[in-house]
Amino acid sequence: MSLATMHEDGLRIEGVALADIAARFGTPCYVYSRAALTAAYAAYLDALQAHGLAGRSLVCYAVKANSNLAILNLFARLGAGFDIVSGGELARVIAAGGDPAKIVFSGVGKSRDEMRAALEAGIHCFNVESASELEQLSEVAGGTGRRAPVSLRVNPDVDARTHPYISTGLKTAKFGVAFGEAFELYRRAASLPHIAVKGIDCHIGSQLLDPAPAAEAEHKVLALVDRLAAAGIVLEHIDLGGGMGIQYRADEPGPATADYLAPMLAKLATRRENLVFEPGRSLVGNAGLLLTRVAVLKPGEEKHFAVVDAAMNDLMRPALYDAWHDIVPVAKADDRGRAMPYEIVGPVCESGDFLGHDRDLVLHEGDLLAILSAGAYGMAMASNYNSRPRAAEVMVDGNITHLIRRREEVAQLFALESTLP
Ligand code: LLP
Repeated sequence: MSLATMHEDGLRIEGVALADIAARFGTPCYVYSRAALTAAYAAYLDALQAHGLAGRSLVCYAVKANSNLAILNLFARLGAGFDIVSGGELARVIAAGGDPAKIVFSGVGKSRDEMRAALEAGIHCFNVESASELEQLSEVAGGTGRRAPVSLRVNPDVDARTHPYISTGLKTAKFGVAFGEAFELYRRAASLPHIAVKGIDCHIGSQLLDPAPAAEAEHKVLALVDRLAAAGIVLEHIDLGGGMGIQYRADEPGPATADYLAPMLAKLATRRENLVFEPGRSLVGNAGLLLTRVAVLKPGEEKHFAVVDAAMNDLMRPALYDAWHDIVPVAKADDRGRAMPYEIVGPVCESGDFLGHDRDLVLHEGDLLAILSAGAYGMAMASNYNSRPRAAEVMVDGNITHLIRRREEVAQLFALESTLP
């Protein structure tokens, strides 16, 4: 993929050699490209522009995909809003200089404290996911003397045809208000003095490669918007969620932003509502990689293992979803040996701790590898399992590399713990 390009000194991101980054910041290390992040955001705006929708659209970056302050700040500077799912994400967006008035708050289990904090910050909209949440929000808003801006997140019962763990739009999912109950719940919302009905929201899943399910969900949502308008409940905005997939394998192209969005956007040009989008993965996924070093080679009878210094705690997607990430050597190919099929695994004590199966690579201990497409749901889902400090994160900007998160130190891992008296 185009994020890293091969030169005499090995793979580079923008103008910086990954080998230099490893020497300076150590491994494992997440590396992001400012130019790639900016280009991914621009592709969204260009697609909206092409349909004449840019002026009334708000692109709310889904913070959960990668919540590093530098990334949030970069998107804030580009004019983005944010889709958050917790009080923690709210605090991050504000700390990164994001505009609270451009925040939408999703999630099935917002606490009253989180609702209060978001009301006080003055967010754009709460995406309410159940009848109970609506009543709770109404009470909390009443207590603060404010009206809570609300969309109902409807569950359109559409099969997103993606991994079951990241599919959210089926009746069987915990997400959203059942489509058949939404109309009545809107009536209830409109009757509550501390609720301001603003819009409608829908998000059917993640890593969607085919635009058809999202367009089908949109079709249902638009019909409901019209039915509500006929009943006197006129919505200001339509939030179509996120979910656009990305390319993970060199041999399987992902959708181009403009092509993926076109069927959805085509139906919006003639409407009057404002639009909200909540892309996460497609803005950051292919703008980052995980840099790791081969610690130990363990040739075996059945399998050859390459134990690297990154593990499932750094990048959980392979272990959790059996996800594929391309893994490529950082050094330029030479004639040092022949390729062998390797299991690329980490040092964590679990057989599920793998980053890639059966990868044909020429490897030596000490070699650097780049695990590609790791900008989304990589660091954001990292843990300290096995008391492993989380990786450093850097962002390349032209010829300059900025450290955007220091490598965690072991002492920090148990700083909050105490022994019994
Ligand atoms: N909006 C809502 C309400 C969401 O739940 C999500 C993702 C998004 C937007 C952003 O979706 P995206 O554009 O990134 O597809 N950890 C999984 C992905 C979980 C997605 C959860 N919700 C993975 O690594 O594949």
